[in-house]
Amino acid sequence: MSGIISGFETIYNRTPDAACFAPGRVNLIGEHTDYNGGNVLPCAIHLGIRCAAACRRDRWLQFFSESFPDSGVIVYQLDDLRLQGCWADYPVSVIRAFSAFGYRIENGADFYFSSDLPDGAGLSSSAALEVAVGVMLRTLFSLPLTQQELALIGQFAENRFIGVNCGIMDQFASAMGKRDHAILLDANSLSFQYAPLENASLVIVNSCVKHSLASSAYNDRQRECETARKMLNVPTLCSLSTEEFDSSSGKITDNTCRCRARHAIYENGRTIDAAKALINGNLSEFGKLMNASHTSLRDDYEVSCTELDFLVDTAQRIHGVYGSRMTGGGFGGCTVTLMEKSSEKEFITVIKQEYSRKFNIIPAVYSVTVCDGAGIIDF
Ligand code: GLA
Repeated sequence: MSGIISGFETIYNRTPDAACFAPGRVNLIGEHTDYNGGNVLPCAIHLGIRCAAACRRDRWLQFFSESFPDSGVIVYQLDDLRLQGCWADYPVSVIRAFSAFGYRIENGADFYFSSDLPDGAGLSSSAALEVAVGVMLRTLFSLPLTQQELALIGQFAENRFIGVNCGIMDQFASAMGKRDHAILLDANSLSFQYAPLENASLVIVNSCVKHSLASSAYNDRQRECETARKMLNVPTLCSLSTEEFDSSSGKITDNTCRCRARHAIYENGRTIDAAKALINGNLSEFGKLMNASHTSLRDDYEVSCTELDFLVDTAQRIHGVYGSRMTGGGFGGCTVTLMEKSSEKEFITVIKQEYSRKFNIIPAVYSVTVCDGAGIIDF
């Protein structure tokens, strides 16, 4: 915490007006369902983005990130918010999205960021950055925005300006997280419910695989789902139950699109069942649904990779593990594993050993604390 304050002071030679923390997220189940109008079950995690900021009297915007020190301070002007092809395009896109939502930013500001989220690992570093900027703008300019609006603005910024057609899950989890709870979110209506996550450990393993084509492949998946939706002639894929899908899937003439739709619709069903299992404290049922989710993401949605499959297979064989799956958009990134608390130590030792033996990389492992959504921090 003191890090971002003293960092801000060193870079800008003055004291910040405010500071905030926006968490990353891990999705427990409900993958690639949000943009298909389905349910997701993420939670906000202790890793995230910290930001300190202060208003300016002129119209300059300045950005500095500890993650990109070599880029130095990046400068934009409020009257010319054209993107520059660097990381600061994310905060600038949020400022543009604020205007699009009717909240004009009249003065410039200086921003300082620090992140402990691994970049490009599928833990929503982009969403956390967007939500952090939203929280700071709301505070600096006293704007009457709810946490949910901040999530929607972040998603809009990413869809419209960054060009990734992501759903609402990541920004929603970062803004609306609740300590020790997962969020069952209906991405279609935005109605949500918190489900307690207790008596178990949640561990994230980073495969350290990054696919440069991940965002274009993500958009491809979306297009395939859209093709399937049109052939089925439904408002969203996830408006169909699994039974309705089984009796109408023949209308999807393309085999790949049929597999994508099958994943989305069955995954939506699994997510609702998983939330029930969590509420009833049935962790072994929850784990089985996580395992089934991974199989479907691997075979029908084809967003896994050898490294993720290896991590999941290894995890599922470790004593005390309820379930394990890839998490996030896929094509590399992380797995999430739910286990008995007493198995955590053994799990971490075994997974590191096996993965490094096979791929010659020691994976980063994070034992998760489930946190509240983004907000101001005192200093
Ligand atoms: C990314 C997107 C989310 C969601 C997941 C897949 O994280 O940002 O909206 O679609 O992929 O579940």
